[in-house]
Amino acid sequence: MNKIQILPESLINKIAAGEVVERPASVVKELVENAIDAGSNQIFVTINNGGKDYISVLDNGHGMSAEDAGLAIERHATSKIRKNEDLDNISTMGFRGEALAAISAVSRFELTSCGDEESGGYQIRVEGGKIVHTARMGFPKGTRIVVENLFFNTPARQKFMKSNNTEYSHIYDLIIRLALGNPRVQFRLTHNKNLVLNIPGTNDFIERVHHCFGTEISDGLIECGHEESYLKFHGLISQPTTVKTSKRWQHTFVNGRYVKCSTINHGIYEGYKTLLMKHTHPIFFINLELSPGEIDVNVHPAKTEIRLKNANLVHTILSSQVSLQLKQHERSYFVPEEKRDREPVDLAPPPLQNQQFEPGETPRNDILSQSEDLAEASVQKPVIYEETDNQLGFLAPETPNIENKNKKVDLTTKDHEDPFTFPEKSEAKAELSSSESSIADEGFSIIGQLSNKYLLIQGEKKLILVDQHAAHERIRFEEIKRQYFSNSLQTQPLLVPIMIELPPQDGILLEQYKESWEKLGFIIDHFGGNDYSVKEIPMILKDSNITGIIKDVLDEMAQFGKSGKLEDFFNEVFEKMACHSAIRASQQLSREEMDALIDQLIKYDIMLHCPHGRPVWIEFSLDELDRRFKR
Ligand SMILES: Nc1ncnc2c1ncn2[C@@H]1O[C@H](COP(=O)(O)OP(=O)(O)OP(=O)(O)O)[C@@H](O)[C@H]1O
Ligand SMILES: [Mg+2]
Repeated sequence: MNKIQILPESLINKIAAGEVVERPASVVKELVENAIDAGSNQIFVTINNGGKDYISVLDNGHGMSAEDAGLAIERHATSKIRKNEDLDNISTMGFRGEALAAISAVSRFELTSCGDEESGGYQIRVEGGKIVHTARMGFPKGTRIVVENLFFNTPARQKFMKSNNTEYSHIYDLIIRLALGNPRVQFRLTHNKNLVLNIPGTNDFIERVHHCFGTEISDGLIECGHEESYLKFHGLISQPTTVKTSKRWQHTFVNGRYVKCSTINHGIYEGYKTLLMKHTHPIFFINLELSPGEIDVNVHPAKTEIRLKNANLVHTILSSQVSLQLKQHERSYFVPEEKRDREPVDLAPPPLQNQQFEPGETPRNDILSQSEDLAEASVQKPVIYEETDNQLGFLAPETPNIENKNKKVDLTTKDHEDPFTFPEKSEAKAELSSSESSIADEGFSIIGQLSNKYLLIQGEKKLILVDQHAAHERIRFEEIKRQYFSNSLQTQPLLVPIMIELPPQDGILLEQYKESWEKLGFIIDHFGGNDYSVKEIPMILKDSNITGIIKDVLDEMAQFGKSGKLEDFFNEVFEKMACHSAIRASQQLSREEMDALIDQLIKYDIMLHCPHGRPVWIEFSLDELDRRFKR
């Protein structure tokens, strides 16, 4: 009997409907998920020109008989569910019976499969939904599907595809996610005849994380896991000190499926609680195992959103375990080994005992409902593509050739000096006369520095407190923005290049947006392997943590690829450059330096907020002080 059957109408109506073939990466996703469902342990993906012209997925799974191969391209034809109840217990990646029909309707499609080597293989070719050729042929057990000229018959959809590089990077990221969710499978990705990924199969999720992201990301992460009958999870999380400014390095899987689930993300964040600074995000790679009956995958046709039947329980277990294991890790640093078996004093709420909950029952802990808003805020929103072609490449509207525009600086002369670099002590003194006059002109006088953090200033009938880091950051932000858009960004060649190791996906981003990097004042060359050499930097960043800035900007670029909002991107990049190059809280300032800082604030028309939205200064009127002293 055929394994594949056409679903009855009543069941079809219960399945989340919608188009899933949006771009080459969605085709690859459906084909690879089919290969995983077929029990393959080797999946080889070959693409040309970002998958727009050619996609081939070859697997060594159980294959299909000739009859099943014919049915596979029909709508609502699947071997994965049969009846309504099956929808409540899905353990395969696919179940809608839609993907192959949808893909073969909008491409030149070829399916070759063999379910039994003795009977031989079978091939079907379909063009725009019509079968044009069938043949029996020799083929090893497994399946190969080739998709050429995607959207050739739907020009409107063709237009929505982005540059080859953008489409390629979506496929690259997708294969990484599929590989993380399925460590036992060997994955290969070949793009334009170059083998770009070859990830060996393993039984170990953590080893897979190392393979996919390299030591740059995975080193220094803490192994985290927990097992009870309701739920199992395992993975790597970052220490609160090694966090990122974006959520890019957060991957969660449920039963091998990459998912976006606010409950899971929020549970993990909750485990970090107060340990995270504002605007920072932990790295985590977490794989959860739950009984299929506890998850509803039939929420969205793309199947990356899921609903958890017992969300509160999952949230509580995750948050308490992450919190506990972070504390245990911290303790292992500071407490000698022989004393470690004593429980730390301030433990997170104890993990809930499974027997207290029947599946489906909601535990009384309503931690999630209290914090739903936060959960919303802390999870990634679904990806929305709003890019237009002229937004690609991170180029400002009137981008002239970088070579002529960025002014190279001769290190041997002094008069190139960036006027907005926070002055060194001696230089600040030299600027003193001018800054003094402008501060005085505005009726300000500096009283002093409080806790090496705030400047106290007397204004007309008021006391002003300035946050030195926020103020300098704001000045830097305005200056970088002005220099960038007026093409007057000065650059500084480095006598000794800075070497930086990047995870492979960041290497791709660097190459992809090389021109934008140059326009930002960075010349970065590939050195070999995962290493890059930074040869030139923007002058304004000369005393800054260049590696930190580059990594932050790469995180931003990765986000940009998805949101496509150019203005937001630039603001974020300028913020990052400003933040890294600004003086810190806790830095003692001389009188001259304080003067120079306030002078610059005045010069830039004193912004009230730092780029992060924190106030730069606050003031108390004399009247208010009088009132508080009950005068
Ligand atoms: N690589 C493969 N190896 C073996 N069988 C396959 C393969 N790809 C598809 N099939 C068979 O073809 C059927 C149809 O595949 P299709 O992807 O269209 O639907 P599905 O996987 O059942 O559901 P969904 O639309 O959610 O992906 C599958 O149910 C499976 O039986
Ligand atoms: Mg499928």
